[in-house]
Amino acid sequence: MRKKILAANWKMNLTHSEAESYLETFLSEIGQVNDVEIVIIPPFTAIPALVSASEKVAFLRIGAQNMHWEKNGAFTGEVSATMLRALYVKYVIIGHSERRMLFGETDEIVNRKVRSALDAGLRPILCVGESLHERDSGEVEEVLRRQLRKGLENVVEKDLSEIVVAYEPCWAIGTGRSATPVEAEQSHAFIRSDLSELFGATAADRVRIQYGGSVKPENAEDLMRQKNIDGALIGGASLDPRSFARIIWRAEAALA
Ligand code: 13P
Repeated sequence: MRKKILAANWKMNLTHSEAESYLETFLSEIGQVNDVEIVIIPPFTAIPALVSASEKVAFLRIGAQNMHWEKNGAFTGEVSATMLRALYVKYVIIGHSERRMLFGETDEIVNRKVRSALDAGLRPILCVGESLHERDSGEVEEVLRRQLRKGLENVVEKDLSEIVVAYEPCWAIGTGRSATPVEAEQSHAFIRSDLSELFGATAADRVRIQYGGSVKPENAEDLMRQKNIDGALIGGASLDPRSFARIIWRAEAALA
């Protein structure tokens, strides 16, 4: 049984003090959580405050939104996996479509980052997903296959269990137009079958595949009920602690 993983990707929002008040509200709202794993992924500047404020909260992990693939060196403005690990960060988003589109990240860069994260003991959340144009031209599977195969090049089977894949169709991100549960499940099933070709069925079966793109309290439960959807990566709706908590409750309801 794959434990569902619900992650809040705050993107470039909230200062460290806003993050602290967010966490206070969120924790008092959510109470105890047993059956799902929760990750909050703030900007770098809020990581230390959130890590120390959530030390005693067993169900909550803190993640990062990006990293450089080198351990250190002359890379002005960058942060390495080792530095994140030293802050007790557990997860790192790699290859988000905003990084691919706005910052020129290629599949090769994504692959370097994935391997560097694994080497440092961080769990990559590898983002894949097609654009609207690619969907309209019937290229969804081809795009997903390429992003997975290149993103996971030279990753060995024993490391696969450390990786979370996030399926985020670009046309659903920040648009209010989520993929339907059926559309999302189709892509998730494809991703699992491709992972199975690459790493074998047993390893592929253990990988958690999150859905991301306009997830909100209203659509979370139906999405989470799909066989191959093992959680969500939530942008806009995670910026309000109460709405993030409601999404988690819907995910828990989907387990019943
Ligand atoms: P939205 O939930 O705002 O559509 O963003 C999704 C996303 O990009 C999460 O990484």
